[in-house]
This record gives sequence, C-alpha cells and structure tokens, in this order.
Amino acid sequence: MPAVHDGAYDSVLPSSMNIRLVEAKDRERLHQILVSVARFTDQEVVWAMDLVDEGITSGEGGEYLVYVLEDGSEPGGIAGYVCYGPTPKTEGVYDLYWIAVDPKLQGQGRGQLLLRFVENEVRRRSGRMLLIETRSRQSFGPTRRFYEQSGYDEISRIKDFYRIEDDKIVLCKKLSEQ
Ligand SMILES: CC(C)(COP(=O)(O)OP(=O)(O)OC[C@H]1O[C@@H](n2cnc3c(N)ncnc32)[C@H](O)[C@@H]1OP(=O)(O)O)[C@@H](O)C(=O)NCCC(=O)NCCS
Repeated sequence: MPAVHDGAYDSVLPSSMNIRLVEAKDRERLHQILVSVARFTDQEVVWAMDLVDEGITSGEGGEYLVYVLEDGSEPGGIAGYVCYGPTPKTEGVYDLYWIAVDPKLQGQGRGQLLLRFVENEVRRRSGRMLLIETRSRQSFGPTRRFYEQSGYDEISRIKDFYRIEDDKIVLCKKLSEQ
C-alpha cells in the first residue's frame, strides 16, 4: 500500500487512492462535490471555491493548502478534498477550513483518510494544534459526529453567532508527536 506522505506519521491508503495537491483541472469536480453535498449555501460554495483558487495559485507555500483525494475506483476520479492552513499570528496552530466527500461515497472512511492526512501534515510542519470551526445547526450533526469520533473536543461556543439557534463551535485536537 502506498503511503500518503513520506515521514514518521504516514497514513496508509488503499492502493486505489492517492492524496495530492490541488490542480486547476480539479476545479470543476470540486465545485460539483461542494454543490452535491447539499449542506452549503450558494455563498458558502463561493467562499469554499475562493480558497480552492488560492490553493491552486499558491500551492504548498500558501496560506490555504488544498489537497484532493484521488480514487481510482471512481469514474469521477476525485472523491473529496480538504483545505487547511496555518492560523495567522500563531505559532504552530492550524485551521481546517473545509472538508467534503462526494455524498455517494460518504460513510466509508474517506473523510477520515483526509483528516488524518492533514493531522500528519500539521505535525510534519511542527504544528501543535488543529482547530475546526463548525456550527450547531441540525444539518451539521453528522459532521460534528465525524469530528468527535476523530478526537476533536469543543473548546468554545458563541451562541446564536451565525443566526438565532445556530452557534459557532470551535473544536480542537492537540497534536503531539507520536
Ligand atoms: C464530514 C465528511 C467530510 C465526512 O466524510 P466521510 O467520508 O463521510 O467520513 P468517514 O466515512 O471517514 O466517517 C464516517 C463518520 O462520519 C460521520 N458522518 C458524517 N457524514 C456522514 C454521512 N453522510 N454518512 C455516514 N457517516 C457520516 C458518521 O459519524 C460516521 O461515523 P460512523 O460510520 O461510525 O457512524 C462528509 O460527510 C461530508 O462531506 N459532509 C458534508 C460536508 C461537510 O459538512 N463538511 C464539513 C464542514 S466544512
């Protein structure tokens, strides 16, 4: 099985899968995934695509690092993607900005592969903490469960932040050397 990345924290991927830096040719497919998850508003899809474009332009040295999960067993090729980056004005803190998996392929471990990849990359860059901002609205329940199962704890909440009864929740995982 090929490894996601060389180094001490490699995640093992099935042989049909690969995680790589985003390229311009992926743009349309990523837009399609963001729309098809039916979780994001039109405006949120625009914001997500802005970060994808930043990732395409800036590559590995940018503020927004975008990686796609290639799945050779899928006709569309790309099964999902993740966007993360160093949190400005901090030492060793990173934010996970977006993660999405094609709804037809959810619940089969691909989200975990992407999240573990990011955690390993953050460690490789001497990061110590990964933060995730999410919301309390009901449609995000499965997503919050996904993060909780992945070892993320709620560390702050601003009630009614996005709108009444939609709180801003910040989740955190401390990433120690393993
Ligand atoms: C969150 C997300 C990336 C997880 O990817 P995934 O490939 O479904 O996740 P995995 O298969 O690795 O993990 C599954 C776990 O996540 C949770 N989960 C979240 N969405 C799920 C779904 N649609 N189907 C099944 N499980 C889901 C479950 O708790 C599940 O655990 P279980 O199998 O023990 O019940 C994916 O569901 C997704 O794209 N959601 C919509 C976009 C989104 O909300 N992104 C986060 C905000 S930017």
